[in-house]
Amino acid sequence: MSHLMKNYGRLPVSFDHGQGVWLWDKEGHKYLDALAGIAVNSVGHAHPRLVRAIADQASKLIHCSNYFNIDLQEQVAEKLVEHSGLEAVFFCNSGLEANECAIKIARKFGHAKGIEVPNIIVLKHAFHGRSIATLSATGNPSVRADFSPYTEGFIFVDESDLDGIRKIVEENKNVVAIFFEPILGEGGVVPIDLSVIKGIREICDEHDLLMMCDEVQCGMGRSGKWYIFKPGNHGSTFGGNPLAMRAALETLSIIEDEKLVENALEVGKKLKKALSKSLNGFPGVRGIRGKGLMLGIVLDRDAHDILELGLKAGLTFSVTAGNVIRLVPALTITEAEADELVKRITPVIRSFLAQPKI
Ligand SMILES: Cc1ncc(COP(=O)(O)O)c(C=O)c1O
Repeated sequence: MSHLMKNYGRLPVSFDHGQGVWLWDKEGHKYLDALAGIAVNSVGHAHPRLVRAIADQASKLIHCSNYFNIDLQEQVAEKLVEHSGLEAVFFCNSGLEANECAIKIARKFGHAKGIEVPNIIVLKHAFHGRSIATLSATGNPSVRADFSPYTEGFIFVDESDLDGIRKIVEENKNVVAIFFEPILGEGGVVPIDLSVIKGIREICDEHDLLMMCDEVQCGMGRSGKWYIFKPGNHGSTFGGNPLAMRAALETLSIIEDEKLVENALEVGKKLKKALSKSLNGFPGVRGIRGKGLMLGIVLDRDAHDILELGLKAGLTFSVTAGNVIRLVPALTITEAEADELVKRITPVIRSFLAQPKI
């Protein structure tokens, strides 16, 4: 019996591997793949360069958090800026996240102009995602149904009704942005007429509005250009893809085989105890809290400046809520390593607290 949620209408086939535009199922049948993971496997299956790059990167560094400079981001951003003609890039995990970000940018832009309830014009047949905000910006009833109440602040217009858009903008001073897919994807692969796009650009320029294009589906060369403008119930495009799933499966097996949950409990307890012993009662330390290997050392002051002191002592950790040093080491941490952590962090905290309080 399947334990998966029933949110996808699945076809009765299970693929085993692919090569270029070809897929093979478990029984060895070969398919020409004209779907490409819903417009996202841009270089085909198992492209040897892509395979090598992923393997190589995985052997070096998979994640380190945006608390640090990430050179690869700079390199990707440079290419995206070059191909889009835009100025800055923000990286996220999915289409809807990108659109959430766009909506937030538009709202912030409005608030900066003194508009308390910013409105965004969206197209009736657009699809922007399945989070509450993005489905609220999506007209398609099959995406919206059963998920009210919706997020306010979206005004729906017909895709080709430039006059209608102009009228709304002239009458409604709360409009801050016009948000649209240059080619409607889920809306039926409908290219918006170039004259309408140019008209939207003009309206945005005239009224100081943001023109926001959702090219999640049509961008990155799929339209035949890098980007267009140089003149079910729930789902996610990448959610559950084989690579992520393989990684997740392996991670779960390691946690099971190496008994890392138990390790987190045991070493976490000892770590908390050792931290309490060395720091509790020290002026400026309010206490140590948390469970397992998710621990916080609560200080009586803003602690952001401690991060560099930590780095100098060969330690990385974070500060949350302003005054809480957060320790969330890997679940593989040994008792000896936890002892070393206490040994290193104690003098860091003490010297930080010895500084005059700002
Ligand atoms: C135009 C458009 N925007 C947003 C999304 C949402 O992307 P994701 O499923 O990665 O959240 C899609 C997905 O099909 C899309 O086509």
